[in-house]
Amino acid sequence: MDEILVRGGRKLTGTIAANGSKNAGLPILAATLLADGEYHIKNIPNLSDIRTMIKLLRTIGTEAEFTDHELRITTKKIKNHEAPYELVKIMRASIYALGPLLARCGQAKVSFPGGCALGARPIDYHLEALHKLGVTIQIKHGYIYAKTKGLKGSEIFFENKTVGATANVLMAAVLAEGTTVIENAACEPEISGLAEFLNKMGAQIDGHGTEIITVHGVKELHPADYSLIPDRIEVGTLLVAGAITNGKITVTNCIPQHSGIVLNKLRDIGYTVETQENSITIYNKGKKYPVEISTNPYPAFPTDLQPLFAALLSTIEGKSIINENIFSDRFMYISELQRLGADIKLSGNMISINGGNKLSGAPVMAPDIRAAAALITAALAADGETKISRVYHLDRGYEYFENKLASLGADIERIETDALY
Ligand code: EPU
Repeated sequence: MDEILVRGGRKLTGTIAANGSKNAGLPILAATLLADGEYHIKNIPNLSDIRTMIKLLRTIGTEAEFTDHELRITTKKIKNHEAPYELVKIMRASIYALGPLLARCGQAKVSFPGGCALGARPIDYHLEALHKLGVTIQIKHGYIYAKTKGLKGSEIFFENKTVGATANVLMAAVLAEGTTVIENAACEPEISGLAEFLNKMGAQIDGHGTEIITVHGVKELHPADYSLIPDRIEVGTLLVAGAITNGKITVTNCIPQHSGIVLNKLRDIGYTVETQENSITIYNKGKKYPVEISTNPYPAFPTDLQPLFAALLSTIEGKSIINENIFSDRFMYISELQRLGADIKLSGNMISINGGNKLSGAPVMAPDIRAAAALITAALAADGETKISRVYHLDRGYEYFENKLASLGADIERIETDALY
């Protein structure tokens, strides 16, 4: 239970590289279950969620060696079709084992994911879509027991866009007999990354990056090497950290096109944002304005950056509005931001921020990954000391975040467990 201590008030300056994408990496690692042999995946962030996924793959029967952002993974005989409760309860993305195990072995036993700090997160779209591909599903004793006598291509229409169910269906449909068409598919770059990886393995997927994805099932896949796309959420987080301190930073190792609307919002607020081929520079010049933001599936504004923008807009004079349209309860961090002096009112799925108050340091507690980053970011702009607890949430999604901020000039340190007790 480490804590992060921030002494606010320093401007961030300099250049920092973004890591590879967690949310692209998790399904891609699960997809290595689809074919025997050795895979070499690069640009993997060293995060606890990635290590949890590797642990899960090991329990299923793969050998994995993870060093310096590179993973060598050898999938041999699958000895176990199970994603156990102990792993699913700490990382919901363990559900990504379902599609590949069904495609490869015709069966899977996956713990049914429980509650989540972002509100209700059902998995009905995953299960209904897999049923359409010929899977029978039973839920018993907290587990999903899924079985198929052979996956068959089908037409799948998602009522709402879903990243996770689109990924699970892709990983099952690649080895199904016949063609699967996914309508209203997620268009996130992480889904395109997964589809590109699967195609490198010999799959035939067309239309990824659009709302209609067609998968022509193949009989067999083979291992492939791949390098993960940069983490657009980490990129957005670092840009907000630079912005909130009125500094000037450049984030490298990124794909600016993946951050289109986020960059536009930063420009609407009044920051200068310049893009180069693989990097983005942000700095402060002139007057700032409040803005209105609505989260929605890609290419609209990402829900994962919603808490970061709430922190930033708390420091911008005037009334800003944020509508959260993806998760039912992604505002648990508000009461913690209020402890830092932010003036925020919650009403249903909307917050209105009466920005411009000077934030002041206080002890706060992180309720989830992005909220942890938002509280640290707010602390950079606050007077005095802020101590953020429950930073294990941060470590699920950000690699050495405090070191990155320190290298840009932040006064920040991690207080390790042993030092605390
Ligand atoms: N939904 C259902 N039924 C389902 C699946 C989803 O009702 O079977 C609903 C969800 O409750 C939500 C909406 O559909 O309201 C979208 O959920 P989606 O399936 O797109 O989200 P996810 O796959 O569970 C991923 C990311 C999240 C990110 C969301 C939205 C991973 C591992 N997780 O979750 O990332 O917020 O997409 O972009 O890729 C994070 O990294 O901090 C994080 C929470």
